[in-house]
Amino acid sequence: MVLTGAGISAESGIKTFRDDDGLWQNHHFEKLATPEAWASNPQLVLDFYNARRKQLLECEPNEAHKALVKLESQYEVHIITQNVDDLHERAGSKNVLHLHGELRKVRSTKYPELVYELEGWELKLGDKCEKGTQLRPHIVWFGEMVATIEPAIQLVQKADHLIVIGTSLMVYPAAGLINFTQDNCPITLIDPKTNTDDQLRKIRLIKEKASTGVPKFVNELLN
Ligand code: APR
Repeated sequence: MVLTGAGISAESGIKTFRDDDGLWQNHHFEKLATPEAWASNPQLVLDFYNARRKQLLECEPNEAHKALVKLESQYEVHIITQNVDDLHERAGSKNVLHLHGELRKVRSTKYPELVYELEGWELKLGDKCEKGTQLRPHIVWFGEMVATIEPAIQLVQKADHLIVIGTSLMVYPAAGLINFTQDNCPITLIDPKTNTDDQLRKIRLIKEKASTGVPKFVNELLN
């Protein structure tokens, strides 16, 4: 089982949220990633996600994403990601579960089961679902339910090894997933800096950037 956060995509050019130049340093998420923001100023919210989607089109998976694909040659690998980019999929990972939604997808504001792949990067006011209601980003906003947390917990409970890559573990319920491993399941955290009190759990810390730390660890597991 692999749990990834914004840090695995940082070296692909996608900003993290809480690092010095993080996304939340330049925006107030309460103004952008919430149902209230969508209700009060939908154009501002659309602009924010359109900008991130446009940037994503120029980004490529990095060596960390690719190493996780290589791991599939000998292991059953499931990736649970907090990221809304599609870099794991574009690298070739087969089993990717998004906790916080997907930037390349949009959905009906009235019928949440109507989810569509967005062509290009721009979602506009007036873009409607097949039943005629406005489309919104297929993103889990603060205060909204994480619909995929149950299957994610079940996957972590079955894990032989949990590898955590590039997350500050500050946002729940995603961060709580590390507590669902069996006692005999080792946890490895790959992150250049971290503040998790790893004394609590037997977490092996690899203090490295994802693009070097993940390939190294994957080679260790493959050999
Ligand atoms: N390689 C690996 N890790 C890195 C790198 C890198 N090159 N650069 C930064 N990191 C680490 C940081 O040290 C930090 O621990 O990535 C983590 C980024 O943390 P956050 O910015 O908080 O991102 P994340 O944990 O994914 O945020 C969780 O918060 O805003 C919400 O929905 C949003 O999914 C996001 C959630």
